[in-house]
Amino acid sequence: MGLTNLKELLSEADKGGYAVGAFNAVNMESVQATLAAAEAERAPLILQITETTIGQPGKPTYTGLEELMAMAKVLVEKATVPVAIHLDHGRTFASCKRCIDAGFTSVMIDGSLKIDGKTVESIDENIRKTKEIVEYARSQSQYVSVEGEIGSLGEISDSMSNAEKREMLTQPKDAKRFAMETSVDAVAIAFGTKHGPYKGKAVFELTVIESVNSVIDTPLVMHGGTGIPSNTVREAIKLGINKINIDTQIRMAFEKSLREVLASKTNDYMASLERAIEEGDELPVPKYDIRKILDPARKAMVEAIRAKMQLFGCSGKA
Ligand code: 13P
Repeated sequence: MGLTNLKELLSEADKGGYAVGAFNAVNMESVQATLAAAEAERAPLILQITETTIGQPGKPTYTGLEELMAMAKVLVEKATVPVAIHLDHGRTFASCKRCIDAGFTSVMIDGSLKIDGKTVESIDENIRKTKEIVEYARSQSQYVSVEGEIGSLGEISDSMSNAEKREMLTQPKDAKRFAMETSVDAVAIAFGTKHGPYKGKAVFELTVIESVNSVIDTPLVMHGGTGIPSNTVREAIKLGINKINIDTQIRMAFEKSLREVLASKTNDYMASLERAIEEGDELPVPKYDIRKILDPARKAMVEAIRAKMQLFGCSGKA
């Protein structure tokens, strides 16, 4: 099995009526956890890496592109399930090209926002930027897939006017034009999901999925997969979502485990210290082992990812 691209994975998902999970990895433990979860679930996998992790050439903000890619390649080569290595939210041609040149099988160009990552971009400019990447991807000897985005990801609320909501939500006519003119392999759409936890009561406009799906054949992507009720996720998949991005849930699992392990380590040590004092024994020396802290955290990430794969219906599909 091993390396594949988004187009292959999502066309199977579309036929099978499920979604493939796209999980963000930032370091060795999260790359390992993602691959281990996919093997355990026999699930196709999209391993995602963000620009904010790899930074600029020579200036990684956390882990260097070459380092992450080397780890991913070693594990993907051994994988018995299909895996796409995908850039999440590429903002510029340069960063998408850099990842394609490094061996990514898939990139997302997020042309829905201007370079500041906040201001909404015009559809004409979004199409222009996206087409530029699609052309570069198509010029490669191996198929490299491209995901684009149309609409503005973000929380909507019942108190918003219809006009305010319309401004953010993906409009079917725009999605149709975008898909036709760019010929991307996947389209991320906005229907009220956002990255990370919701501030208010989460409101989702699921009809957007249905109406966009009825006008384009391109597989649809849901960003901001954390914090959405399971029934809503199942409904979104039924209506046409074939790729779901998960990041925060993995971070939460990692941090929860880390806190628990460190708290229990401190408690156990303090208890042994008190016992030794009470019994007049030699005082215990604290022990330090990175593996004993990170191994449970890695396992917690595996479990969190496996649960999402089961929810998305992609378990057993590899
Ligand atoms: P969450 O952080 O909400 O899981 O979203 C991840 C995402 O959409 C990455 O593109």
